Amino acid sequence: MPKKVLITEPIVSSVIDKLEQFYEVDVGERDTYNEEETLIEDIPEYDAILPMLSNPITKKVIEAGKNLKIIANHAVGYNNIDLEAARKHNVYVANTPGVLTESCAEFTMGLLIAVARHFVEAQRYLLDGQFKSWEPLGFLGKELKESSLGIVGMGRIGQAVARRAQVFGMDIIYHNRSRVSKDIENELNAEYVDKIEDLATRSDVLTLHCPLTEETHHLIDTDIISLMPDDAILLNTSRGPVVDEAALANALHEEKIGGAGIDVFEYEPEVHPKLKTAPNCLLTPHMASATYKTREAIGMLAAEAIIGILEDKPKSDLPNLIQA
Ligand code: GLV
Repeated sequence: MPKKVLITEPIVSSVIDKLEQFYEVDVGERDTYNEEETLIEDIPEYDAILPMLSNPITKKVIEAGKNLKIIANHAVGYNNIDLEAARKHNVYVANTPGVLTESCAEFTMGLLIAVARHFVEAQRYLLDGQFKSWEPLGFLGKELKESSLGIVGMGRIGQAVARRAQVFGMDIIYHNRSRVSKDIENELNAEYVDKIEDLATRSDVLTLHCPLTEETHHLIDTDIISLMPDDAILLNTSRGPVVDEAALANALHEEKIGGAGIDVFEYEPEVHPKLKTAPNCLLTPHMASATYKTREAIGMLAAEAIIGILEDKPKSDLPNLIQA
């Protein structure tokens, strides 16, 4: 009997083709597996699952996966998976580090410039027919050169953002669970700031690249936002719940900060209604890694982990296993 793999949504076809060379593969329709119940119902027949970050791979789902040997997430973040339950049931878990670093960093720079220079409002103004003549005082934005960029989470993506921001002449400061090496600090000309409060106070732009954990849940709340300069910009391409979304929406409406670029949401895919109407706020649908190259690489890395586990290859050949 061939082993069975569930890919919960259509992904780049070369990845599906690769897995089909080895296994019987089912590909779910868009959004079929965003509910725990559907997963619980279908999981028992599969040896491996390649879920999206929107699929809740909970304790109950893992318990129902009687044949399940590996969960290979189609994402670097894995807060949708109950790691403890997976460990208890000897199910391997893999993620996709490394391959989305550059696309996410590029996207963050796009958000940064778009918000700093009011792209969204300016386009609306133009399309509304308000552009009558060149305006010396129209849409004055924040110049990046000599502005400070506060990075929360100095992992791969944080560092890739720092590298780009350095080229724009920004001053890089960062906060991380632990300080990065002196070599990296020197290369990026980045200063470690011990307290998130100090980072917020000193950042003209604050950008989030940390994982979602108990410690980072609502890391950016009313208190932290109140420490940011009045014209500061907040960027979030990490996970929505790192920011108290209601607090951010209020701060934008009350002009306590100058703008935000938000790709991830606290109750995704819901977006706080006040955020939708907030001034200078650019909202995108969780798409920082969305380039063909990256999405193919994400899929391939997940597929390789599945093949590695189902074919019993040495674990040392599978660097993206988070845990057994
Ligand atoms: C995207 O958000 C990812 O974690 O890969």
